Amino acid sequence: MQNPREFISESEESTARIAQELSSETKANDILCLYGTLGMGKSVFARALIRALCANPDLEIPSPTFTLVQTYETGQIPIWHFDLYRLEDPEEIYEIGWEEALDGGILIIEWPERLGTLKPSNATEIAFAASTDNANTRLITIKRPG
Ligand SMILES: Nc1ncnc2c1ncn2[C@@H]1O[C@H](COP(=O)(O)OP(=O)(O)OP(=O)(O)O)[C@@H](O)[C@H]1O
Ligand SMILES: [Mg+2]
Repeated sequence: MQNPREFISESEESTARIAQELSSETKANDILCLYGTLGMGKSVFARALIRALCANPDLEIPSPTFTLVQTYETGQIPIWHFDLYRLEDPEEIYEIGWEEALDGGILIIEWPERLGTLKPSNATEIAFAASTDNANTRLITIKRPG
């Protein structure tokens, strides 16, 4: 498969569809790092991905902005959704289940930059960028590790 892959999304729904496509190739021990500034669509993507992995389009996906992590056991594999925007020290990650997550989970991480040197090197990197064309346009790049 081509790597990296690039997509142009013109809407929230289009971003959700890209996430749904990725869900079919996401497996235990996969780490997905979501990059992009505020409001770029990381949470839109994460929500659609988790719903697809859990095969439940109505699943409630609260934003882990304050809790930093939210877990889902509804699918076959535990899913860990991190939003590390408010992580002050990378070492704090160990207090919110990091090692357990790395032991067989699927990790979806918003603001992975906050991990500093603890950021895993074997992650799929998904970058969201704005476009000058249109306020709703996002350029999404998915880069598999290795
Ligand atoms: N093409 C698009 N893809 C995704 N979201 C879009 C798109 N166009 C417009 N939007 C809007 O942009 C916003 C994206 O918000 P979202 O919470 O997903 O951003 P985020 O990257 O998670 O930000 P934060 O860093 O604050 O968590 C939503 O309001 C969504 O409706
Ligand atoms: Mg977000």
